[in-house]
Amino acid sequence: MTAFTLADAKARDAADKLAPLRQAFHKPKQADGSDVLYFGGNSLGLMPKKARDYMTEELDDWATMGVTGYFASRNNWVRYHEQFKEPLARLVGALPHEVAAMLTLTANLHLAMVSFYRPTPSRYKIVIEKQAFPSDHYAIRSQLAFHGFGTSDALIELAPREGEDTLRMEDVEHVLEVEGANVALVLLSGLAYYSGQRFDLKKIAAMAHAHGCAVGFDLAHAVGNVPLNLHDADADFAVWCHYKYVNAGPGAVGGLFVHERHHAHKGLPRLEGWWGNNLDTRFKMGPEFDPAPGVDAWQLSNYSVFSFAALRASLELFEKAGMGALREKSVALTTCLYDLLAPLDGVEVFTSADPEQRGAQLSVRVAGGRKTFEALQAHGVVCDWREPDCIRLAPAPLYTSFEEVYRLTDVLRQVITQQLARVV
Ligand SMILES: Cc1ncc(COP(=O)(O)O)c(C=O)c1O
Repeated sequence: MTAFTLADAKARDAADKLAPLRQAFHKPKQADGSDVLYFGGNSLGLMPKKARDYMTEELDDWATMGVTGYFASRNNWVRYHEQFKEPLARLVGALPHEVAAMLTLTANLHLAMVSFYRPTPSRYKIVIEKQAFPSDHYAIRSQLAFHGFGTSDALIELAPREGEDTLRMEDVEHVLEVEGANVALVLLSGLAYYSGQRFDLKKIAAMAHAHGCAVGFDLAHAVGNVPLNLHDADADFAVWCHYKYVNAGPGAVGGLFVHERHHAHKGLPRLEGWWGNNLDTRFKMGPEFDPAPGVDAWQLSNYSVFSFAALRASLELFEKAGMGALREKSVALTTCLYDLLAPLDGVEVFTSADPEQRGAQLSVRVAGGRKTFEALQAHGVVCDWREPDCIRLAPAPLYTSFEEVYRLTDVLRQVITQQLARVV
């Protein structure tokens, strides 16, 4: 294979139709004023420049209108969330009335489990990845305890085989064949936060449903990263945040999907609050809950329009790019990074080599471990370290260039060469 040069990277950027969108984001700077090499979009996406304008719009309306802004502001605060339904439905592969921007991921997970974790004396177990994000474990374990079950009996953890880094679908299938009749809920990631493994939602939902289990997905690392198909996959529910690939800012409002076949189910338990009440009757202030149509009935509280303002700025960019074109660039960019990293001495990429099995994140083990990570930071690379031995690198396609991928690899090569020289 001929070497990929800086000139090659620049040529790829010149041919990239999405390259102009990079200008729509603020780039953090190093002390000398140059841009950092930002590969941390899997953790916190960059700020869309319009976020400030859209927040200022709401601040101005608040300043000039006070409470009348709920109905009279330019963006009509009581209906502010409605503008997100179509773009979010496109991002997660759902119908608009199946998705809501609301609350936060872990809160939404608890709300969804109230509706979809319905344990009985014989069917009460929950299947989760052993390496699922800790908040999912805490949520699930606390739900089990709330219902009076112990984790040693009721929690089934899926782990990669000894010496492997990713889950095999046949192992998930095997667990469900053995335990399925006792399982109330299967909760998996759309894309695993640690390994970067992408899951086939449709396959998993079909397996879970074949055994009579409800199925939900944590899409924190999948939304805005890979194409999704929640409705067709027939997922019961999904939850996500918007602060990673969706770039809506730290602690941004989260998302909830509930499949439409559950919307009219009167017997489904649900925790309720006034913002889930139909807007037509919400301000009549009656004690009886009149559910809003679709997933909006799960909303609990008045939301923050400031968080929504940043989401608005970000979703406009997704609409401009289109998820198809974005995925195409993502595959090209991540493959480029993979091909540059894989041959390096002292680097083991343990995310799949197959673009279909991953999104924009590559998880790597490197010689020197944490010291190498710290050296990367000192050289102006933003990425993250996950215990015990993983560096995650995400060339988010909305704002990352081929040149940055090239430069990152160059820095990593230098840092690792120094680390290996120290060891010798
Ligand atoms: C996979 C995954 N699940 C859940 C969470 C928790 O999200 P939140 O703090 O928005 O509830 C995170 C946060 O990074 C995450 O990465």
